[in-house]
Amino acid sequence: MHRRLRCGVLLTALAFCLFAGVAVGESNDVAIGERLAAFLRAGRSVISSHQDLINDPAIGTKNLTGQRVVAEALETFGRQGSSATETFSQSDKQLFDAQIEALREIVDEHQKKIDAKGVGFKGFIPATFARLVNERFEEKVGDRAKMKVTGPVDLVRNRKASPDSWEQSVIEQKFLSPGWPKGQSFIEAVEVNGHPSFRMLIPEYYSASCLICHGMPKGEVDVTGYPKEGAAEGDLAGAISITLFK
Ligand code: HEC
Repeated sequence: MHRRLRCGVLLTALAFCLFAGVAVGESNDVAIGERLAAFLRAGRSVISSHQDLINDPAIGTKNLTGQRVVAEALETFGRQGSSATETFSQSDKQLFDAQIEALREIVDEHQKKIDAKGVGFKGFIPATFARLVNERFEEKVGDRAKMKVTGPVDLVRNRKASPDSWEQSVIEQKFLSPGWPKGQSFIEAVEVNGHPSFRMLIPEYYSASCLICHGMPKGEVDVTGYPKEGAAEGDLAGAISITLFK
């Protein structure tokens, strides 16, 4: 009787530890994913805030260096209250550093383009910038993490942004379902190419400023050369996808 009781207590404790262990690991993964997404967004908004400068054909040297964009992105990011890294492990911090480095490199590698005098629209826009940063991030830490901006399959402009089957099913079955709370992410522990992985998808919606390219009239070619999607403000535009390989 006594023995059975002790065993029961032990089993309960073990079950609790296992459960707590999973929960703690998952909440850290969510925090990592949110941080990576927030910094990518901060970088995009910095590029967006300088879009008129980038597109100005009258100015040559613009001093929009990688160092400056990183500094402004970190500032934007800090203002959102998401700067604390103390709670993250050394290897988590390496991911953040790789992302910062990717951002710096992409801007530095585009200096000639950004500084081209006599050229107005140069194609250096937040979406393209974000894709290049994510691709560089994958080159650096692709064995541990992957980031991508994707979207509903009928909206995707760049084939490289096409959703994989997991992303597509979350977009269609969760984000596009009428009851899905606006802005709510979806997370799941899944296998990716045989590796146990943590996946996170964060929905993004069109704001008024996006519609100059993604809005009406549907089919009209925008400044970037793509046909407009005919979207409205508040429609689901896409999703930031983050995978952490275990
Ligand atoms: C100047 C035109 C322009 C504006 C403004 C613009 N986009 Fe885009 N967007 C593009 C182009 C071009 C691409 C493809 C970029 C690439 O080569 O990867 C793109 C890609 C995307 C993608 C990735 C999936 C895909 O289609 O390849 C999403 C999501 C997206 N845009 C959402 C937005 C949102 C949200 C806004 C407003 C905050 C916005 N865009 C503003 C032109 C624009």
